[in-house]
Amino acid sequence: MNDIFTLLKSHRSIRKYKPEAVPDELLDKILNAARQAPTSSNLQAYSIIVVKEREKKKALAHLCGDQPWVAQCPVFLAMCPDLHRLERVCRLRGYEQNDRYIELFIVAVVDTALVAQNILVAAEANGLGVCFIGGVRNNPEPISKLFQLPDKVFPLFGICLGYPDHDAIIKPRLLPELVIHREEYREDNFEALVAQYDRIVEATGLYDGPRRKTKSPDGRIVPDEEYSWSEHSSRRAAATDPKVLRAHMRAFLKRRGLQFE
Ligand SMILES: Cc1cc2nc3c(=O)[nH]c(=O)nc-3n(C[C@H](O)[C@H](O)[C@H](O)COP(=O)(O)O)c2cc1C
Repeated sequence: MNDIFTLLKSHRSIRKYKPEAVPDELLDKILNAARQAPTSSNLQAYSIIVVKEREKKKALAHLCGDQPWVAQCPVFLAMCPDLHRLERVCRLRGYEQNDRYIELFIVAVVDTALVAQNILVAAEANGLGVCFIGGVRNNPEPISKLFQLPDKVFPLFGICLGYPDHDAIIKPRLLPELVIHREEYREDNFEALVAQYDRIVEATGLYDGPRRKTKSPDGRIVPDEEYSWSEHSSRRAAATDPKVLRAHMRAFLKRRGLQFE
């Protein structure tokens, strides 16, 4: 296995896979190791749907916003927060699950994400490539139907798995000064640090080409040399398009029995 620091620092999402299957034993090994992730109060409030069927992956790729790598990857994992199993356990023991507050929902979402990241690390350590797919929240209703998910279980994000067939760039992350705070939250040199990061990202060519054309919510046009991480991320964070915002999620969760006071 790679040195763990080298492994973590070489993460990059893979969006093109070799046709080669992921051996079942390897997949089981990854999933079983990932299940050992920490979990709030040992509740283990998640489920994973393993998808290998070609037609199902094709349908999913479309429902995820036409992302070809979802159809192309040999294995797709739908990562689902699951408060249904716990509700059944409560009933078995003669209790009523109290999921009226957002806390159990947060627990389930965090548990799901922790297992997912374990899957990513184990997969990459074994030469596989991975891409998380939040696109499952584009169409959560039909995807839930496709998987016959019971109420209180929903697709949070997916994971494409397979042997990489391209060499994606490693995207530099925000400077440590912006994300790691010693003893208290600090914003010293904020603007200079953001500008410095913009220049670092610019040099990678990450936002060259069509990504530069991401629509600004106010129709603003900026020169190419000013379009880097801060412009791209601000456009995303300031988006008003209900599709980008996945504005349907609240009503969807309510329909699935997840509504909070
Ligand atoms: C929860 C989550 C959802 C994501 N959804 C998608 C997605 O739907 N499609 C996609 O191509 N990449 C998706 N990504 C991958 C991110 O775009 C990627 O991690 C980010 O740009 C950083 O790039 P890197 O992973 O190559 O370092 C997702 C990542 C996360 C963590």
